[in-house]
Amino acid sequence: HQSVLSVSQFTRTELHALFGVAQEMRQMVNRMGMLDLLRGRVLALVFYEPSTRTACSFAAAMQRLGGTVIQMTDVQTSSVSKGESLTDTVRTMASYADIVVLRHPEAGAAERAARALPKTPLINAGDGTGEHPTQALLDVFTIREELGTVNGLVITFVGDLRHGRTVHSLARLLALYQVRINYVSPRELSMPSEVLEDVASRGVEQREYTNLDDCIAETDVLYMTRLQRERFADPNSYERFHSSYVITPRILTRAKDTMIVMHPLPRVNEIAPEVDSDPRAVYFRQMEYGMYVRMALLAMVLGRS
Ligand code: CP
Repeated sequence: HQSVLSVSQFTRTELHALFGVAQEMRQMVNRMGMLDLLRGRVLALVFYEPSTRTACSFAAAMQRLGGTVIQMTDVQTSSVSKGESLTDTVRTMASYADIVVLRHPEAGAAERAARALPKTPLINAGDGTGEHPTQALLDVFTIREELGTVNGLVITFVGDLRHGRTVHSLARLLALYQVRINYVSPRELSMPSEVLEDVASRGVEQREYTNLDDCIAETDVLYMTRLQRERFADPNSYERFHSSYVITPRILTRAKDTMIVMHPLPRVNEIAPEVDSDPRAVYFRQMEYGMYVRMALLAMVLGRS
């Protein structure tokens, strides 16, 4: 079986095979609502951290493929609150299910949990400040659906790049393409050096900024992120950076007409609600694409595509 733990597992050919299936899933959902490709199969959600999109889009994806879902998404009402270990918890859920989807606050937790499951695939739905591979897959799918291609684009990441696992995965995945990447953040929240080194090793040019004004005009994809309150040990430093970058209609007057604004969501205050009606705002379609990509991934991992 094949677990999905990191974007580094994917080649460009595999990505494009996945995206082809995701496009078919989108058409079939629009035509029929649901399929029976995974009838009789069970997916287990094991979430130690809050989630709306990832948990519910995986559940919706499995149900639209004809499968069913069991969940341990509330640590307080599960035996985790009695001290059960991560590996015992995932072993338990895997004994009831064909595939496990895990979110956990520790980087490396998904890999550790997968090692405890010799027979059941596990999908990393976010491991602390580590990776969020399925978010990066749906992000690249979004760029291709909205702009037609990834090659030749300038992608600008903005916000808490130090703690944001989404941007760690996406920068690495974009390095499979001919792109240029800008990083805009307060110095204290800059992209970790190991991500910069991985991306540089693929020959991708990267530039770091503290001021979005310095690179918004050349940007094709503006990727906003949330300040990760839950990752700050000191609440004062969270408050200091809280309003560092906020996208408003006024800021967008300096951007290309063809630029797209993305955000993994949830947003706190990084994108003013007035931006939602701008045709360049794609973040709500981005979350819808997530379900099709996750349908494709489930079908492929469970051998039905
Ligand atoms: N983008 C994302 O991972 O959202 P959730 O935390 O709501 O799953």
